[in-house]
Amino acid sequence: MAMHSEIYAAYKAVRPRSQEYFARACKVLGGKAGHDLRYATPVPLYIERGAGGRKWDVDGNEYIDFLLGNGALLLGHAPAEVVAAIAEAVGRGTHFGNDHPLHIEWAERIQALVPAAERVRLVNSGTEATLLALRLARAFTGRRKILRFAGHFHGWHDDVMRGVQPPFDADGSLGIPPQVREHVVCIPAGDAGRVAAVLDADGDIAAAIIEPSGGSWGRVPLAPEFLRDLQTITSERGVVLIFDEVVTGFRFSPGGAQGLYGLRPDLSCFAKVVAGGMPGGAVAGRADIMELFDVTDDARPRVAHQGTFNGAPLSAAAGIAVLKRVATGEPIDQANARAAALRAAWDEVLERRGIAGYVYGACSTFHVYFETDRQRVQKAQSRVDLHTTEAERLKGMPGPLIEEYQRNLRFYGVDNMSATGGVLSSAHTARDVEEATAAFAQTVDSLVAQGLILAL
Ligand SMILES: Cc1ncc(COP(=O)(O)O)c(C=O)c1O
Repeated sequence: MAMHSEIYAAYKAVRPRSQEYFARACKVLGGKAGHDLRYATPVPLYIERGAGGRKWDVDGNEYIDFLLGNGALLLGHAPAEVVAAIAEAVGRGTHFGNDHPLHIEWAERIQALVPAAERVRLVNSGTEATLLALRLARAFTGRRKILRFAGHFHGWHDDVMRGVQPPFDADGSLGIPPQVREHVVCIPAGDAGRVAAVLDADGDIAAAIIEPSGGSWGRVPLAPEFLRDLQTITSERGVVLIFDEVVTGFRFSPGGAQGLYGLRPDLSCFAKVVAGGMPGGAVAGRADIMELFDVTDDARPRVAHQGTFNGAPLSAAAGIAVLKRVATGEPIDQANARAAALRAAWDEVLERRGIAGYVYGACSTFHVYFETDRQRVQKAQSRVDLHTTEAERLKGMPGPLIEEYQRNLRFYGVDNMSATGGVLSSAHTARDVEEATAAFAQTVDSLVAQGLILAL
């Protein structure tokens, strides 16, 4: 039998109802959970209610929430204006299958905030957005292949599974057709010369797709200069540049990461914040590319795109309510300030204990890196020497460490987004940061006691 930390039993003991739900889940849910990241041992979380920056599970355990609906909730849980907008819309009917006034207004608000969004097509998720953007790029260029970057996540369709987690040359999932390998080129981000060389050597690359934050919402950070170079290199070669702004859109700035860095991709993918906590997403970009959706009198070949719930009324209502607030800039400033305070406080926890690790992240995100390579730790003079931008390292922390970290943080009342990081909302308070820091300190002490993390 596997050995478990003391916390394991205590964690289970305060979750009797969660255990009952888990027993039921095991008999009904494929994979025992609704999303790969929701599965957890000894039991996943079953959440009953959220308000502001906190949420409560079926056993009444309270969490400071840095998962926030996988990053969708910039205003926190159940913000009054979003709840009111949905309530008002729902009385008029949940879904028509026709376009409707809120559909147009939602697209207009995206267009108003993102200069590169000359046209907008609404979809239902980030995965749908990247799938559709890649189809558009292939159609526009008449080329077959895509260039993507190691460690970057673009959803779960076949074209984008390889290259997310180390080893980056593995397929990323069972069930991916082997021919996908032939049309997906995956290289490390950050080296503009290499991108140019790859594109020059292969004239069949239709698109370059990238998370402008760096892979997995900045877990693998990226210098904005690389994005600028990428824009130039792709534009010079007629390759469609796709920014996957599913996390960064309407979070890094009112105009997303492209707004923050003053860039203009050919196509952008949005989801999460754009739909105000409801299912939804968008592909937006150059009018001459988006024209490929047009139905013409001469019945020209076009890009086909259906979708029962595209631009659905309740998602549109929620999205409009959030984008109105985003346009003021104020919720983003608040979330950024709280996240900066949290990063500083958590880093101090590591500094005071001399832990081989550091806290980083941009805007309203944070990530923690623990260096577990003993040789690197021995060689380091200070924690700064441990800083890395290597995707293999940043995404290669041992699984048991991540599991124990997450379980401890939850035990002490904090739920993160994925791996070691999370996102903040405008609803988080100074008290949330303070209490979360105490939980982080307890977690770090427990990880040290178990020998899972190292001291310098
Ligand atoms: C950068 C990025 N792209 C795409 C996706 C996929 O979005 P969805 O989960 O809505 O399909 C995600 C989801 O986390 C994401 O973070």
